[in-house]
Amino acid sequence: MKVSVDNSRCSGHARCNALVPVIFTVDDVGFSDIGEGKEVPAGLEDEARFGVAACPEQALRIEQ
Ligand code: F3S
Repeated sequence: MKVSVDNSRCSGHARCNALVPVIFTVDDVGFSDIGEGKEVPAGLEDEARFGVAACPEQALRIEQ
């Protein structure tokens, strides 16, 4: 599983990072910096889905 951010949608809420920091890293001002196709560590698929669902801007997506 991989996750990606649409930087044109991310508004720096950082909810993804607050909930699942091991996957959803952010830059110094709180915007997602995961880029395209960040690999989700094995066993953290549910956490990845949780973080994606928590973004109020729908800026995150999962790629299988
Ligand atoms: Fe951005 Fe959404 Fe996370 S707005 S910082 S991707 S919660």
